[in-house]
Amino acid sequence: MYRLERRRTSKMNNKAHLLVFFMIITGICVFWGDEVLQYVPPQEQRSCSCDQCLFENETFPIQNLSRFPQPLLSTNYNLSEEDFNSWKRLQPGGGSISVYREKVKKIFERIPANPPVEAPRPGRCRTCALVGNSINLLGSHYGPLIDFQDYVIRINKGQTKGFEADVGNRTTHRVMYPNSASQLDNTTHPVLFAFKIQDLQWIIKNLSTQQSGQKSLFNKDLAMVLNPAFMRNIHDVWLKKKGYCPSTGFLALVLVLHICDEVHVFGFGADRNGNWSHYWERLANRRLRTGRHPGNVEYKMIEELTRHNVIKFYKGW
Ligand code: C5P
Repeated sequence: MYRLERRRTSKMNNKAHLLVFFMIITGICVFWGDEVLQYVPPQEQRSCSCDQCLFENETFPIQNLSRFPQPLLSTNYNLSEEDFNSWKRLQPGGGSISVYREKVKKIFERIPANPPVEAPRPGRCRTCALVGNSINLLGSHYGPLIDFQDYVIRINKGQTKGFEADVGNRTTHRVMYPNSASQLDNTTHPVLFAFKIQDLQWIIKNLSTQQSGQKSLFNKDLAMVLNPAFMRNIHDVWLKKKGYCPSTGFLALVLVLHICDEVHVFGFGADRNGNWSHYWERLANRRLRTGRHPGNVEYKMIEELTRHNVIKFYKGW
C-alpha cells in the first residue's frame, strides 16, 4: 500500500517536472522568437521609416565616412579661415574672408535663415532621385522611376523636354552655379553652389532683381547654398584629395545623402571613350575626359556606395 502510494507520488512529481520543463522551453522559445530573432528596433530609435536609414548612428558602413554637421549654409554658420582658404583654392577669383562674410550676410538678408529642407523623422522615408547628365540615360526608360521619387534633383543644364521617357519630367531641386544657371519655375528649389566670391555676388544680384520686382531665375524662399566647408570635406575625406576638385555631380551626390533617406542615382558615367558626354547634345570636345575632376575616383566611390547598399545606382545603357 505504502509502495503504491510512493509510486503514485513519484509519477506525479515526474509529470510536474515535465510540465515545468515544457513551460521553461516555451518561455525560451517565446523570448527567443519575439525578442531576439524578430527584433525590430522601436520606431523612436530610428531616424526614418525606410528599410535602412542613411548615417544611422551618424556613420556609414564604409571608410569611416560620417555625417557632415552642416552641409548647407545658414545665418548662424561661421566659416573658419582654414575652410575659407581651402575653398578659395578651388577657383581663381581672389577676395578675403571679410568680403566673403559680407556677401554671405547680404544673401541671408534675402533668403531663409535656415535651409528649407524637410527634417528627417522616424515615420518618414524621403526618397530621392539624383539625376546626373550622362549620355547613358538615352534609351534607359528610367523616366517613370525617376518621377516616382519624392524629390527629383537635377544638375546644371540637365533638361527634361524631349527626354521625358528616359529622364522624367519632375524637378523639385536644381543644382546650379552662374555658368550653368537656367530659369526655374516657382516651385523648384535652387541649390546654389558657389565656387568663388564672384559666384556669391551673382546670387546677390539675382536676389536683388527679385526685390526690384523683376522676374528672377528662381524663387528666393526656396533657395539653399552649399557650405564651402562641406565642399572641402568632400574633396579631402570622400575623395582623399584626388583631382583638382570634386565635380558638381559628386558634390550633389554627397549633399543628397544628407537631405534624403533613400537615394536613387541616375545619369553618372563616362561614354565608351571616357568622356563625360551629355544626353541632350553631341560632344563638342572629344578630349574632354572628365575635365579637372577625378572622374574615376568618383565613379569607384559611387560603386562602393552601391555595393554597401547606401545608394541604388542605375547604370543606364
Ligand atoms: O556636365 P555636368 O557637370 O553638367 O553634369 C553633371 C554631373 O553629372 C557631372 O558633374 C558629373 O558628376 C556627372 N556626369 C557623369 N557622366 C557624364 C556626364 C555627367 O557622371 N557622362
